[in-house]
Order: sequence, then structure tokens, then C-alpha cells
Amino acid sequence: MRNISEDTLTDAVLATIDDKADPRFREIMFALIRHLHGFARDVDLTKEEWLAAIEFLYQTGEKTTRKRNEFILLSDTLGLSSLVDMISSRGDDEATEVSVLGPFYIDGAPMLKNGADLIGGNAGEPGIVRGRVLSVDGDPIKGAMLDIWQNASNGFYSNEDPEQDDFNLRGRLIAADDGSYSFTTIRPMPYTVPEDGPAGVMLQAMGRHPWRPAHLHFKVTADGYQGLITELYPDNDEYIDEDAVFGVRESLAVTFVRNVSQEDATKNGLNAPFFNLDYDFRLRSA
Ligand code: BEZ
Ligand code: FE
Repeated sequence: MRNISEDTLTDAVLATIDDKADPRFREIMFALIRHLHGFARDVDLTKEEWLAAIEFLYQTGEKTTRKRNEFILLSDTLGLSSLVDMISSRGDDEATEVSVLGPFYIDGAPMLKNGADLIGGNAGEPGIVRGRVLSVDGDPIKGAMLDIWQNASNGFYSNEDPEQDDFNLRGRLIAADDGSYSFTTIRPMPYTVPEDGPAGVMLQAMGRHPWRPAHLHFKVTADGYQGLITELYPDNDEYIDEDAVFGVRESLAVTFVRNVSQEDATKNGLNAPFFNLDYDFRLRSA
């Protein structure tokens, strides 16, 4: 290996991977090394630039804790999280599309009754969300659990805002035997992804904004079915076509139908104006 040159270096590194290494690991390392070397060649990467990139990754590690993972935010803002989601759900045309989990999910939200009210003391436009949890063939899924979380009218999730209760605007409920579910809540708000770390520096250097369109988060699980993590976005949100983390899909951009009738609102225990959102989730078999 003494006479290594720019032309032979990549093959020399690839040749060091043991034939007996785990086959999938081998495949991934081969491709990673080839692409990394190709990238450096493509841009004629300088030493200073590579050291700056290593410093950037170092700072990303420094910013990362168990509660705030800056590497995930980098993956999200570079579109890699959504690409992996899309690769993992290839061919599932009938199933509800997946969207990013994000950093604000909290396990163990309170178990609520189907039909529950998440509004409590929250300000904001009230609304009723309802639909069914179905298989890809359209059969109701009995006993499916919906785990729901969203931000408040100030744009913050409960775990970002000391003024909110720990599980404000969060809850889990079990769909009825015919797959139906419903709950009342407030309209979620657009918000910015955390900007005070390397991902924020990168967005700024790229001339990008940090906004996400408003959305409701859902984790839907049922025995015998693959779990679904997704989001529903009001289709008239100002950031619907420029999500900082590329989570929006056509099928997940939905209409929050506005209703100004106080008579209709009263039937649902709400004040007008309120919104109606009807959405059926479709899960693939395990
Ligand atoms: C969120 O939707 O909560 C989120 C997703 C990705 C990055 C930041 C926030
Ligand atoms: Fe979110």
C-alpha cells in the first residue's frame, strides 16, 4: 500500500473491509466510503473546509443531549429523515403516508376517552377532529390507539414552555370497535425549528427560514399492524409549500373546514367559529 495515489486510494480503503463482515454492514460501508470520496473529489474539498466540517459536527455533538438531538435536526433539515421514510414505505400506496416524528414527542401521555377534549384552558380556534382507523383494505381496526400531540397558540409544545402543563395538548385514546375516533382541540400554529445550534447556523448560511407549517402529530398503533407516525397539515397554512423539514405530503395536507354557526358549535360543546377535520388513517399489516 505504499504507492497509493488519488486514483487508487478509494479502492485501497474498500479492500480493507473484511469479506466476513456482516453483509449489510459491508454494503453500507462500501457505499458510504465511495460516496464520501466522490463528494470530496466533486468539490475539490480543501483541508480548511474539511476541518470546518469536522468542527461543525463536533458542535452538533456538543449541542446534543438525550432531550435535544441536533443530529436528528440536521437529518430533518437536510431532507434525509424524509428520504429514509419514503424509502421505508415504498409501494404502500393505500397506507397513510408517514411524516417526521420531531423532537417534541413525549411517551406516556394521559389515556383519554374517545371523544375527549384536549382544549382545557388553551386559547385558540377550537375544532373537532374525527375519522376512522382502517386497514389498507378499508376494514375498521378495532382497538387502535391514537397518540396525539401538538403545539399551543403561542407556537410552543408543552415541553418547550414552562407555562404549560407537562401533557398540555397531548393524549392517547382508543378507537371504537368500528374504528371511529374523535377529539376536540385547538388549531395548531406554524412554528420555527430550534435555531440556536449548528442546524440553525446551517439554515442561515443556506439562506433558508426555520418555519414549519402548523400540524397535528399522530402515532397510531394496533395489534397486527405496523405503527404509523404522521402529521396532518392545514392545507391553507402559509408555510405548507416550504416546510423547513420536508414533512408535508399532498395526502397529509388537509382542509380544516371553518364553520361560523354557533348552533353547530354548541352541539359539539364549542364556540364558533370552529373547524371540522375529518381524516381516516390506513395502517399496513405487520
Ligand atoms: C416537529 O414537528 O415537531 C419537528 C419536526 C422536525 C424538526 C423539528 C420539529
Ligand atoms: Fe411538530
